[in-house]
Amino acid sequence: MLKIINVCGARPNFMKIAPLMRAYQSYPDIDPIIVHTGQHYDQNMSDLFFRQLDIPEPNINLGVGSGSHAAQTAEIMKRFETVLEEHQPDWVVVVGDVNSTIACGLVAVKRGVKLAHVEAGLRSFDRTMPEEINRLLTDAISDLLFVSEPSGLENLKREGVPDEKVHFVGNVMIDTLKANLEKAEQSNVLEEMELEPGGYNVVTLHRPSNGDDAETFGHIADALEVIQDDLPTIFPMHPRTVQNLSKLGLAERFAGMQRLRIVEPMGYLSFLKLMSRAAVVLTDSGGMQEETTILGVWCLTLRENTERPITITQGTSTLVGADPERIVSAYRRCRRAPASKPPVLEKWDGRAADRIAKVLASPDNG
Ligand code: UD1
Repeated sequence: MLKIINVCGARPNFMKIAPLMRAYQSYPDIDPIIVHTGQHYDQNMSDLFFRQLDIPEPNINLGVGSGSHAAQTAEIMKRFETVLEEHQPDWVVVVGDVNSTIACGLVAVKRGVKLAHVEAGLRSFDRTMPEEINRLLTDAISDLLFVSEPSGLENLKREGVPDEKVHFVGNVMIDTLKANLEKAEQSNVLEEMELEPGGYNVVTLHRPSNGDDAETFGHIADALEVIQDDLPTIFPMHPRTVQNLSKLGLAERFAGMQRLRIVEPMGYLSFLKLMSRAAVVLTDSGGMQEETTILGVWCLTLRENTERPITITQGTSTLVGADPERIVSAYRRCRRAPASKPPVLEKWDGRAADRIAKVLASPDNG
């Protein structure tokens, strides 16, 4: 038996392990174990995704919860070490770029367990982003690196990662999107929220660089004020952004925007439906840049850089930073042009997880 521990911890990880768990089913010799670190723990940041995406219950939940980067990472490491001692896996598979990714990766390699990184090679070249540090370090210690887009191959080559460790497999997040699009279509979210297809915008924000700084968040609020005047704008708000609204004294300003609706974070299916019919999506999320690209929906990325350049060069995303004039003028351009036809991107075909399972199961990697 090939024992594989699959780590997940934060919301964007759940869509990435869902297709992997399904792909392992074709390999009777693979014994997959799910470890949830507990980095995200709210019902609608975690449990809801397991239910909607049919992910098996985690075998182990480390229950670490929130904390500073150091405290959270250290706590995950301590608790994950006892899991490795007990289960003695052949592989640890980590996904994405969150603190759970690097924490479990480090513990694995130091105990001599082989490490595979799904979504390897992405680089924003911005080391002030905690995720960039997590990406660089995880890639540096991984035995297998599964890459989602060609830029990842170039980055890993430049960093001197041997070719035989690297596999261009495609995008597991898009596996999940494709597997669930039909189910999402059945969601009544538009009716429930009294929205017309193409008649509203969607906003999400959670990055510290945007939401933790009063001036930057204030600039984004300036833009949203204009944008919500044009179309109703739905803002499913991440818990850290909710905390920041009041901390930074912006709650009243947002409450004054009549057509901006702040709602709780949503489940996968209703959110996918909501995004798919939006006029424009404004976000600082990496995953949503990819999802809007495949949905053919305009995406204004509220960042100065992206680790997912394919969403700009071939997709529907534009980098707009946090400057209100730049955001509003890009928004107006999107409103004038029809939504674009989704591009066909190499290996974003819904089969990335199958390719990963095949490599892991191969005797060469045993
Ligand atoms: C983390 C990831 C980020 C990812 C994002 C998706 C890191 C460094 N960052 O950021 O890359 O894009 O998840 O959401 O790993 N909180 C709750 N309930 C929860 C989870 C969090 O209330 O279920 C609150 C807590 O107050 C916490 C804050 O949100 O302090 C931030 O959570 P944390 O896990 O530290 O990072 P995210 O901002 O979610």
